[in-house]
Amino acid sequence: MNLAGRAAVVTGAGNGIGRAIVERLLQEGMRVVGADIEPESLERLRAELGEAGQIETVQADVSRREDVARAVSRCLERFGQLDLFVANAGIADAQPFHEISEESWRRIIDVNLTGTFFCIQEAARAMMPARRGAIVATSSTNAWYVESNMWHYNASKGGIDALVRSAALDLGQYGIRVNAVQPSMVKTRAAFVTEDPDFAPRYLERVPLGRFARPEEIASIVAFLASDEATYVTGQAIVADGGLTLGIALPLPEAPLPGSARAAAAHDISQENL
Ligand SMILES: NC(=O)c1ccc[n+]([C@@H]2O[C@H](COP(=O)([O-])OP(=O)(O)OC[C@H]3O[C@@H](n4cnc5c(N)ncnc54)[C@H](O)[C@@H]3O)[C@@H](O)[C@H]2O)c1
Repeated sequence: MNLAGRAAVVTGAGNGIGRAIVERLLQEGMRVVGADIEPESLERLRAELGEAGQIETVQADVSRREDVARAVSRCLERFGQLDLFVANAGIADAQPFHEISEESWRRIIDVNLTGTFFCIQEAARAMMPARRGAIVATSSTNAWYVESNMWHYNASKGGIDALVRSAALDLGQYGIRVNAVQPSMVKTRAAFVTEDPDFAPRYLERVPLGRFARPEEIASIVAFLASDEATYVTGQAIVADGGLTLGIALPLPEAPLPGSARAAAAHDISQENL
């Protein structure tokens, strides 16, 4: 993928999707600064991936501009360049919609939306002199295919989409591409429904691929968007949802619907014949 030797910052690197992204970028031969708010997750990352390649960690809260700037500086100091910034850190919560507090609203918007703004802007400032770079944000299908009782989360992801498009519009002239990945439900600690014995199977009935995503399946999209395989792609969001948002699967009608014509015999695709 032509990523070898390049340098990246990944936020939310300590767990789930972010960690899978770090692993994938190291496999591609990139040098990586992993940023996360949790020191113990960063320690684990260093211990478990330290041998896999050149990795540096920075404790950072993406809702604080100075923390994001520190992660960028660390990448420039340690690796001499910044080719990719992955704005992945994010938090979610679900509460009865009429009880979502101002505090909860503000924290989710601060981390997910304002944090992504800081990430994109600080990355752009570092990349503009080189007149090249790629930025990828982890959005969500929640940006437009909303989930109940998650007004704050849904709004934060919708905001990220508008932000990604805005940044792509203004940064193209500097050779910087900005894109997003939009997963639906990925097996991480944050996706609590994947572990819900009652709800998970009901959810999966609506997913044509019949399973939740693995974090590595999101990481591979990030690697593609970062790479020279995607040099003409900017301002886009790639959906990875196993087909969840395509439409509603209907039962077959018992008889032809009024006015329709139907062939006398149909191919038998019942399970026994597949
Ligand atoms: N898991 C899913 O189903 C799913 C679906 C769509 C989008 N996403 C998005 O993917 C991203 C990663 O989520 P995940 O599922 O891997 O969650 P996760 O909880 O497994 O990992 C998130 C990481 O971000 C870190 N983090 C949290 N707040 C931070 C902050 N303020 N500053 C820096 N780091 C912070 C956490 O410490 C954690 O290591 C999020 O943006 C999330 O909204 C997840």
